[in-house]
Amino acid sequence: MKIEWESTLSVTIDAPLALVAKCCQVTEGVKLPCAVHVLLTDDEQIHQINKEQRGVDRPTDVLSFPAVNYRRGETARTSEKRLKAEWDPELGACMLGDVIISYPHALEQAKEYGHSVRRELCYLLAHALFHLMGYDHMEEDEKKEMRKMEEKALGMAGVTRDEGAIAPSDEELCALARQAMQNSYSPYSRYAVGAALLSADGRVFTGCNIENASFGLTNCAERTAMFKAVSEGVQEFSTIAIASNGAPPYPCGACRQVLNEFAPGIRLLVTWGEGQVAETTLPQLLPHSFGPKDLP
Ligand code: THU
Repeated sequence: MKIEWESTLSVTIDAPLALVAKCCQVTEGVKLPCAVHVLLTDDEQIHQINKEQRGVDRPTDVLSFPAVNYRRGETARTSEKRLKAEWDPELGACMLGDVIISYPHALEQAKEYGHSVRRELCYLLAHALFHLMGYDHMEEDEKKEMRKMEEKALGMAGVTRDEGAIAPSDEELCALARQAMQNSYSPYSRYAVGAALLSADGRVFTGCNIENASFGLTNCAERTAMFKAVSEGVQEFSTIAIASNGAPPYPCGACRQVLNEFAPGIRLLVTWGEGQVAETTLPQLLPHSFGPKDLP
């Protein structure tokens, strides 16, 4: 899931919204690349939009406007045709719709519920995204199902009530790696790679390959994910999933060496299509390795 981000405010957002969006899509089980437009704004603007679009004359915390008209009882997972109708060739993704979040409301609600603004923003985004994927909470059982999906996605993104993450399964980690390919910047090779790195504390860091007109400066997906994690203070990892299309994307020599620096015992999953997964280890890929253990 790609976020087309827009903000009318000059606030710094310290919330893993991009990861939450990807986790919502994995939780729903939508395979097609998707995108969403998110506007972060103030109460005045959300009030105006609420009045104009819904005839409701007051501000609110979050609004969602789905692009897809789901059949009754159906959600995004079972509506591939309808999603495909929203294919945006420029984005290379199906546009699910618009989300508008009021930052002042998020601040207020965080205080009220006694959790962080970070968690509140993640919750509001997840809630809106499940609306965009066909969920509603008019009936009690629908509401329960929607809450369950939200909690699962937030847990997978490491944003839970008790701040303890629920680690994604291998299949979910591979799906996150496939989604990470969506942001690949690979105009020279046209070979998109995505990675999803699971840390020992259950958090996921995603990465893609980022090429450069000066070819040698290219950064591989695995190293992007690893450097994101290490720069956030995380150095212990359990699994990395690497995705591309065509053939199994075993990591290049440079990435094997970088993975070996921090996680010689890491499990590697390579996936080159839905259900096409191979598992390996670093000793298999980098025998007789040279690493921190070899230095005095
Ligand atoms: N690539 C990766 O992202 N990971 C690897 O381990 C192998 C290669 C990328 C780098 C470049 O953008 C493209 O694939 C072709 O080499």
